[in-house]
Amino acid sequence: MSEACKLAAGNWKMNGLRADIEEARRLATLFKEPSCGILLCPPATLVAAMADAVSGSRVMVGGQDCHAHVSGAHTGDISAQMLADSGARHVILGHSERRTDHGETSASVAAKAVAAHAAGLVTIICIGETEAQRDAGDTLAVVLSQLQASVPEGGNAANTVIAYEPVWAIGTGRTPTLEQIAEVHDALRAALPDAAISLLYGGSVKPGNAAEIFAIGNVDGALVGGASLKAAEFGAIISALEEA
Ligand code: 13P
Repeated sequence: MSEACKLAAGNWKMNGLRADIEEARRLATLFKEPSCGILLCPPATLVAAMADAVSGSRVMVGGQDCHAHVSGAHTGDISAQMLADSGARHVILGHSERRTDHGETSASVAAKAVAAHAAGLVTIICIGETEAQRDAGDTLAVVLSQLQASVPEGGNAANTVIAYEPVWAIGTGRTPTLEQIAEVHDALRAALPDAAISLLYGGSVKPGNAAEIFAIGNVDGALVGGASLKAAEFGAIISALEEA
C-alpha cells in the first residue's frame, strides 16, 4: 500500500437492471464510514437512479465510458458532462473490452480523459497486456507505453486513477502471481506523472485473493468485475482493502 488514496471500484459492465440498485443501497448501509473510497460503475442506464439511491452516503457512482465531445451528432454515445449531470463522479476509460470491441486506442482514451476532466470527473484509465504480449516478455513495455499515451497532460492524483488489468486475467479466474503484479505496479509508480495517483489492480479479484493482492506495495485498491455485482461479495473485498 502506498500513500495514494485507497479505492475499491466495481465495474458492472453490461449487467444490472433497476432492481439491482438495491445492491448499491446495501453497500451504503454496510459501509457508513469506510476508510477507503467505494465506487460502483453500473451501465449508463442505471447511473442516475443509482446516484440518487446512494446520495448522501459514501458510495460513489461512475460511468464506464464517455465520448470525447461535449455534445453533438454521436448516436448512442454519452458525454462526460451527461455522466456528471447524472450524478457520476468517475468514469472508466480504455477498458480492454472497449479497446477490443470498439477499437479504442490510447490516443482516443486520452482525448476522452481530457473531456472527462473538463466535466469534473475522475478518470479510471485501464491498461494491461494480452497473454501473447506477456508470453513474449513485452508486459512492461506494453503497459508503460499505454500509460504514457492514455493519460493526458494535466493528469494528476486529483483527477486520475490507473487500473492495471492484464487482459488474460479478466473474467477468467486466473491472476498473475503476486510478484508479477508487484513488478508491474512498481514500474507504473515510477512512471506516473504524479506519484500520488492511485494504482488499482483488476482481473479476477475475489474475496479469497483480495487481501494478498492488497498487501502488495504500490497496489492501492482494485477494479472488480464479476465480484462487484453483489454487495456481500464486493463488501468482503472492500473490508479487505480497509484492513490492508
Ligand atoms: P473480473 O473481476 O470479472 O475479472 O473483471 C475485471 C474487470 O475487467 C474490471 O474492469
